[in-house]
Amino acid sequence: MKTKKILATAALPYANGEVHLGHFLEHLQVDIWIRAHRMSGHDCVFICADDTHGTPIMIRAREEGITPEQLIGRAHQEHEKDFKDLLIHHDIYYSTNSPENKELCEEFYHKMKAKGHIAVRPIEQLYCPHDKMFLPDRFVKGTCPNCEALDQYGDSCEVCSATYTPGEMKNPHCYLCGTTPVKKSSDHYFFKLNDFKDYLIQWLPNHTQAEVSAKMMEWFTHEPLRDWDISRDAPYFGFPIPDTNNSKFFYVWVDAPMGYISSTKKWCALNGKSFDDYWRTEDKAEVYHFIGKDITYFHTLFWPALLKSADFRTPTAVHAHGFITLNGERMSKSRGNFISIRTYLNHLAPEYARYYLATKLNAKVEDMDFNLEDFQGKVNSDLVGKITNLGSRGAQMLNKNFDSQMTEPEETGLKILKEAQAACESIEKFYADRDYFKVTNEVRLITDKANKYFDDHAPWKLVTTDPALTQQVLTTTLNLFRIISIYLTPVLPAFSEKVAHLFGEKNYTEFKSVHTLIQGKTIQPYQHLMTRIDPKNIKSMMDEAKSVAEKLSALKAKAKTGTQGVTQVETKPTAENNGKISIDDFMKVDLRVAQIIDAEIIPEADKLLRLKVSLGEETRQIIAGIRSAYKPEDLKGRLTVIVANLEPRKMKFGMSEGMVLAAGAGGTDLFILSPDSGAKPGQKIK
Ligand code: MSP
Ligand code: ZN
Repeated sequence: MKTKKILATAALPYANGEVHLGHFLEHLQVDIWIRAHRMSGHDCVFICADDTHGTPIMIRAREEGITPEQLIGRAHQEHEKDFKDLLIHHDIYYSTNSPENKELCEEFYHKMKAKGHIAVRPIEQLYCPHDKMFLPDRFVKGTCPNCEALDQYGDSCEVCSATYTPGEMKNPHCYLCGTTPVKKSSDHYFFKLNDFKDYLIQWLPNHTQAEVSAKMMEWFTHEPLRDWDISRDAPYFGFPIPDTNNSKFFYVWVDAPMGYISSTKKWCALNGKSFDDYWRTEDKAEVYHFIGKDITYFHTLFWPALLKSADFRTPTAVHAHGFITLNGERMSKSRGNFISIRTYLNHLAPEYARYYLATKLNAKVEDMDFNLEDFQGKVNSDLVGKITNLGSRGAQMLNKNFDSQMTEPEETGLKILKEAQAACESIEKFYADRDYFKVTNEVRLITDKANKYFDDHAPWKLVTTDPALTQQVLTTTLNLFRIISIYLTPVLPAFSEKVAHLFGEKNYTEFKSVHTLIQGKTIQPYQHLMTRIDPKNIKSMMDEAKSVAEKLSALKAKAKTGTQGVTQVETKPTAENNGKISIDDFMKVDLRVAQIIDAEIIPEADKLLRLKVSLGEETRQIIAGIRSAYKPEDLKGRLTVIVANLEPRKMKFGMSEGMVLAAGAGGTDLFILSPDSGAKPGQKIK
């Protein structure tokens, strides 16, 4: 067999979120595939990195009061550890925010430009005159044009799920400062995707799954492919586009796939490998991208075209998989139907889920369900009850009755051993075809035969009449167990290591080790390989998932209060100023003593109170998100402090003309400020 040189990637997880069961499924699919190819003798590398750029990362960092660099640094550590603890082995887990990636983006850009694949033309966007910046969709907040929910992002509504453009929102305002944005035009850089239409039409059917290619072709063969906007306006966390004086940045989906190449470059530099073999020519290595079905456009249209435009090779194949659901439902963090890797690992061992997912994984783009009952059943009955039990029964009896001494396989057992060995080729093929469920099916068949063999010979009885034969039966059983463990090594690497140790062997690194039978060997004392899943642990895992969801919704509620007429007294530092503002900035805020003269509940809004406040000469209406902490009657007559020169905001329940200052996290943890007695309504606070 010819040794292949294989490079595989998993999609680069976003750095603004934690890795979860969906990522696990994808990285496991690659991890098993790479491990299996290695065991078939191929030269393989698994490349991955964090996807670190773009608006959501900037927003998240801003909300947490840290820099984007701090955010992605923390995510990188967490992600790396999570994958390691799942026994996912990346040969490199790098970052798209690397010098190699910046350089590569520039190389791509210069090539694309020189070959005429870039167009520049103006587009109109919302612009904040106060912050002097163009506002990406997520930097615009306003009222949903569909359901009137307040305080929604500029691309979609979290309440009714409608999608729209920021221009279609009611009462749009800048997420940063609250100013109403204006429309303004600026030059953007476009990649002329249609230049590669003919190439893609011939490329797609040969390099993607039939269902993917059919869908893509149907989508674009009748019309020209539209130019793709690859630029974003500053400020943007990413790489500046050359020639633009740092005013434009590459859109995150440009530098993200380039992360596959730049991470390979880094890995080659660290390991003395030839980068050109992987990415410059097609004849030395095979390149595979494993992705979820949601990002096929990027990987099967934009990405091959970008590669082509800059004279890089295109992938051998893109393998898309479906989405994982949890107990039949889409995973949703806010509903508690979501399992992060950390939550999983806090309660369960990685190989339980590795095994369970392997029994379901195939080469199709179908969704697959992680059903907790099925999970527990399959692991406990097959992996522990059948597979592990075979080893533990055989080994413990050999330890106890025969001084751990194997002899040679028994006559009729040899036939089963031969059959088990003969499965090797098809098992290697199932792995290579990504049909892992066929591997676990095949292994289950062998295991069933082995268990039947053991039970038919009843060694626990036989030992009293024919110890020598018993020893042979145990030797046969243990050899079967060893073969099964070798077959499962890509799925259960830690389990397999323990089995190798039991037999006093080096870790299994080749499938062809199944062809040697072991005899006359002394085995090690049996140590637990795997225990049953205790349902209590599944329950505690889901309890943790729910409590995470509850904390999250409390946090969200808090974030909302902040923009609904109450200012939390806390300063969010930004990257530039370390959280400090100048005295001039402070003096712009007109803080006043105010007396609450009336307060009432707004029946349709369970978080808000409508306040009437007096500033001496003038009275104002303020709609404040303090209902969870205050009863209206307790507020009447009270003195408090407000921001008086805030631009009035039209809310669903009327105008809000100012903000009440309050401390606390929100909910019942909320305390409005009051001046000492004697202060007069309307007095300015300095
Ligand atoms: N950062 C981009 C990918 C850039 S690749 C150059 C991204 N990140 S992601 O974190 O949202 O998703 C990473 C991968 O996980 C994607 O392939 C995505 O399809 C996959 N999954 C995310 N949720 C998933 C499930 N619920 N189920 C299975 N896979 C899912 O997209
Ligand atoms: Zn602004």
